[in-house]
Parts: sequence; structure tokens; C-alpha cells
Amino acid sequence: MTDLNKAQQYEEVNGQKIDKNDRPLFHVTPYIGWMNDPNGFCWYNGYYHLFYQYYPYDTNWNSMHWGHVRTKDFIHWEYLPVALAPDKEYDAGGCFSGSAIEISDGRQLLMYTAVKHERLEDGSEQVLQTQALAVGDGIHFEKYEKNPVIIGDSLPKGASKADFRDPKIWKEDGLYYCVVGNRPEDGSGQILLYSSKDAFHWEFVSILAKNENRYGKMWECPDFFELDGKHVLLVSPQDMLPEDLEFHNGNGTLCIIGELDRNVYELKEENYQAIDYGIDFYAPQTLKTPDGRRIMIGWMQNWDTTGYRLEGSKWFSQMSLPRELSIKNGKLYQLPVKELESLRTNKVEYKNIYMNNQKQVLDNVKGRHIDMEVVLRKIHNEDCKKFVLRFAEDKKFFTELSFFPEESILKIDRKNSGTRRAYVHQRRCQINQTNDELKLRIILDKFSAEIFVNNGEQVISTVLYTEQTADGISFAVEGSMEMDLVKYDLI
Ligand code: FRU
Repeated sequence: MTDLNKAQQYEEVNGQKIDKNDRPLFHVTPYIGWMNDPNGFCWYNGYYHLFYQYYPYDTNWNSMHWGHVRTKDFIHWEYLPVALAPDKEYDAGGCFSGSAIEISDGRQLLMYTAVKHERLEDGSEQVLQTQALAVGDGIHFEKYEKNPVIIGDSLPKGASKADFRDPKIWKEDGLYYCVVGNRPEDGSGQILLYSSKDAFHWEFVSILAKNENRYGKMWECPDFFELDGKHVLLVSPQDMLPEDLEFHNGNGTLCIIGELDRNVYELKEENYQAIDYGIDFYAPQTLKTPDGRRIMIGWMQNWDTTGYRLEGSKWFSQMSLPRELSIKNGKLYQLPVKELESLRTNKVEYKNIYMNNQKQVLDNVKGRHIDMEVVLRKIHNEDCKKFVLRFAEDKKFFTELSFFPEESILKIDRKNSGTRRAYVHQRRCQINQTNDELKLRIILDKFSAEIFVNNGEQVISTVLYTEQTADGISFAVEGSMEMDLVKYDLI
């Protein structure tokens, strides 16, 4: 039996044993075992496909396979068999992250990083990362016989052959392109651009962007696309240092907005920002829908927080909600895909609730899978020091979102969510407050919260593993404020 058949059989037998009530309602989880980055997010033959970094046999990272799901609406996902296993000499060290596209003959092409460990004469080990292909019909895939198709010899001088990964492929004006993350001589990161006429034979084009040790070290999982008249580069830097409240320590996310100089194929950078301001978000990837929307999905997890988990669960980690992107005033905006609205039911609405130095609950405002919009208004001539929204709350546990109007800071805090481990549980986010109103859209799905601030100008994502019976929501203010609220259950 091949390694792929073995993985397929294993997940088929064991994945279905997981009660669907133990999974989120509309967020992707691995069929069984471990999952990290989204891979191969693309539209193909009537479905959106999503592959993922996958180790079915255990809930910890190990030898990387590609898991596979598909959907028609970004909300209801169907599990498909494991697509790739590390079963060739050139990828025995893992089938790392990559992307997918439909090629001219109608087949689906997967482009991934093949990892190989080599023993050198002095006994030490060398890691080699190359880019490889597999082609298929949307369910079954065969690795290309001439793999790997992009090897370390194509790299610019001084570039690492060990950190050369995560190709993101697209087609433009009849040519295929891909961007790949790489570590140059300065030890940080750079993004390389390659092109191809047929998606099988690749040529190095340029160094599209250089980190030069500004934002972390190695840049992983690049994505590059045009949006609203700008060029956008998304990367996930390792080893970040904090920068005010924009970037935090460790693995982070970075969005660079600029203009592609087509004479030299270099990105002329204009703006920088984090992609998500919460605790759990990494390695996002995008696709373009047939109706022209740019949709992003990320790993709703971070390498620094993988120890915070649901005890005894047979699956580990979730994908974020797919989010529609746009650029406004040089900034990246994100909103939940509109398809989410099809799950809305039981509308509850409140207007002009006056809150003054009190904690309160509202009738019919509770739940762990909800879509809730809260608008907070400052009252003329009245002070407000702090607003606190608690959710997933019972007598003992809660997760808390606090707003400090005087500093324009939002803070997420899950330390009272029931965790008994000392990972990152809090993060603060500096918001752009131009008027006396703050708008929050809060999406809860059993084990997560995604908070879209001021129409998607910033997003705060966090996972939480509080018992589902903790479904309370409460509001408190120090000072006074006015609030409107609309809440739906998502079913
Ligand atoms: C990012 C990453 C990628 C790599 C994959 C391995 O989370 O480190 O760079 O391809 O995970 O699973």
C-alpha cells in the first residue's frame, strides 16, 4: 500500500468517528489530526478547493501531507481524501505549503514545496527545499514525473536552498507566475518571482521584495495580487520584533501595499500593516472568485500558541472565516464572506441603549455561534473610560473585549477562558478613531471569535476552548456610553 493510500484509509476510518458536534459549525478543521497553513485555495470545476498542511496520525506537526476540502459557498465544507503524501525521494521530508490553479488542458495543478533531508559526508544533515507539481481532476492527483521543477540552482547568489518555500501560482496575460519565499544572505527574507509559459518549465524573473531585516526574518507563505488598483503582497514573517501595537513578537503577518514596477518586476512599497491584530492568525492565502471577489483564508492559529488546545480532541486547529478583501485609503479591509449571512436566523435588535457605570445582559443576546454587530457611541459631555464586552461567559469563565476610548485601544483577553497554560492570552490593537463611534462585528463559532472593527479596517482573531455551555454575553462600562446592537444566531 502506498503512503497516500495508507493516509486515506486512516482518515476515512478515524475521521468519521469525530462527532460533528465537536467541531465548529462553519470553520474548517482537519478531518483528523493536525492542520496548519491553508494551501491550494482556488476555484476549480464548480467548487472552491482548499488544501491544508496535514498530519492525520497525530494532533502535533509531523511529516506533511496535503488534506483537502471543497465548498460551494465558503461555509459548508466537504471532506475529500488526502491529496498528497510525502512518498518520493525528493519530498520525503514533507509536502510543504503551496497553491493550485486550473491549467490550459482543464486539469488542476498543485504546486508545493518538496522537502528533502540529505546526510553530508561530515555526518551533518542538510535540508533542501524545491518546488514540485502534481496534477489531477480535483480529487486524485499524480506527482509530475519530472519533479522538482524549481530547484536551488535557480536562486540568486547567497540565497538559502534550505529556506525556499511556499509557491503561490497565478496566471496573467497568458503566462503563469509564482512567488516563493526565500532567505537571502542577510538571514532575513525575500520574495522571488518566477514565470512559465506552460506551468511546468519555470524561469527566475526577479526579487520581487526584500525584507532587509525590517519585519522579522524569513518571510513564509507569500501571496501577490492586484486589488483596487494596487498591488498587494501578503507574507508571514518569522521571528518578528514588536513595533508599537502594529506588530507583535514571534510569527506575524504583514501586508505590503504598493505598485509593481513592470520594468524590473520589483514591488515599489507604499504602506505596511499587520493583516490580523488578534492572537491566532498566520499564513493566509487568497483566491479570486468567478464574480471577481478576492477572498482570503488564514490558519486561525499561531506557531507560538499551538500548546493552547482542547484537551483530548482528535483534531487540532481551525481555518479562519474566508474574508473578502478590499483596499481603501491605502489600507487593507476585510469583511466576512457575504455567504455567511445565509446562516443568520433569530434576529435580535436593540437601539440607543444607555449604559452608565453598570454591567448588564440583554434578553436573547447570548450564544456561541452568532453574528453580532455592536455600535458604540460616545455621549456628548459625558466621559467613558472603558467598555467591556464579555462572551463565552458563565459563572467562572469568559473571554473579554475591552475598548479604551481615551487611548483608542481595543484589547482581547482570553486568560479567563478556561486555559491552564501560560501562552499568549491577550493582545492590544490600536484603532483608527476618527469620530465618536466604534463599530464591531463579532463572529463566534464555538471555538473562536473574529472581531471586525470599523467595517473591516482591522480584524482580531482568537481561538477559545471554553465549554459550550458558557454562552453568556454581557456589557459593562466605566462612565457612560450609548449602544446599538443587532444579533443573529448562525445555524
Ligand atoms: C508556515 C510553514 C511554511 C511551510 C509549512 C510547513 O506555517 O512553516 O513555511 O511550508 O509551514 O508545514
